[in-house]
Amino acid sequence: ATIEKGGFQWSAPSNIALVKYWGKKENQIPANPSISFTLNNCKTITKLDFSKKETNDTFSFELLFEGKPKEDFKPKIQKFFERIEKYCPYLKQYHFIIDTENTFPHSSGIASSASGMAALSMNIMSLEKAISRNFGTEMTDEFFYQKASFLARLGSGSACRSVKGNVVVWGEHKEISTSSDLFGVAFPSQLHENFHNYQDTILLVDKGEKQVSSTVGHDLMHNHPYAEKRFEQAHTNLSALKKVLENGNLNEFIKIVESEALTLHAMMMTSMPYFILMKPNTLEIINKIWKFRNETNIPICFTLDAGANVHVLYPENVSETVLQFIKGELVGYCQNGNYICDAIGNGSQLM
Ligand code: PMV
Repeated sequence: ATIEKGGFQWSAPSNIALVKYWGKKENQIPANPSISFTLNNCKTITKLDFSKKETNDTFSFELLFEGKPKEDFKPKIQKFFERIEKYCPYLKQYHFIIDTENTFPHSSGIASSASGMAALSMNIMSLEKAISRNFGTEMTDEFFYQKASFLARLGSGSACRSVKGNVVVWGEHKEISTSSDLFGVAFPSQLHENFHNYQDTILLVDKGEKQVSSTVGHDLMHNHPYAEKRFEQAHTNLSALKKVLENGNLNEFIKIVESEALTLHAMMMTSMPYFILMKPNTLEIINKIWKFRNETNIPICFTLDAGANVHVLYPENVSETVLQFIKGELVGYCQNGNYICDAIGNGSQLM
């Protein structure tokens, strides 16, 4: 007997890199290892309905965004299916309805590719698990999560870090023996209590369309004059950050994380063609954060994605004071005063 029809629903969170992935080789292999906090509130929720079809020569799927047809995501999903087909040979046997929504506002400048590709990959693995169970094989959780992350990576590199929580490493590194270029793994050491429920307040500085897609950005690291040094530095920073996450040294944490954010942007500014993705308000916010930290000694810091928004990172025990500061002094630099309160979270969930 075959699995005729059914459906699953998974949520997958966004993640914020501390050591950045920027530059890749063939087949979505990262040029350097990266590490991220998995977020809790910024999520994609994806429902996958499947039904067996007569023919199996093409991929067949419908895409809905918040329940309404969404044609412009189709090429991305088509490409994703083509990439993963050899690992998921059953895909062409089904017609899919993929219905997806985000908990964060669209065009907020928060990329939904990581959470979106992770949520879809979790659903595909649920289908694969059902098929193998039908053949009498019980899939282990380890295989399930590892392959889900492997598939998500083929959709969007950083998506492989959205399958698990709370801290995820992707890419081979000499001091993290469990890490892999092929999928993300949970940070293997005990996380110091200073990082428990670490806060990330995302200041939405600019909601505009990205000037440079991450595909183009990664490509610009080929023939980039500083690429080799940068990739080496990511290894060094990951070694240092591994210690910090174990020993709780927040001053060291701040140095590494802020330097990584500025280096990511420095790589964009020194590529050919070159880009500036920060906005004037990004810099205003960074300067205010530095001033506040100098004056109060409260260990807050910033990080950036490939855009103008600022992620403000701080421990839970100072959140009251920091939120007051954010509301009083930083929200004015956000587009329409918009910001999102988030914290580190547990990864994908079956709903
Ligand atoms: O997953 P991609 O290909 O969209 O690349 C994301 C790269 C950064 O967000 C800029 C850094 C990172 O490690 O997440």
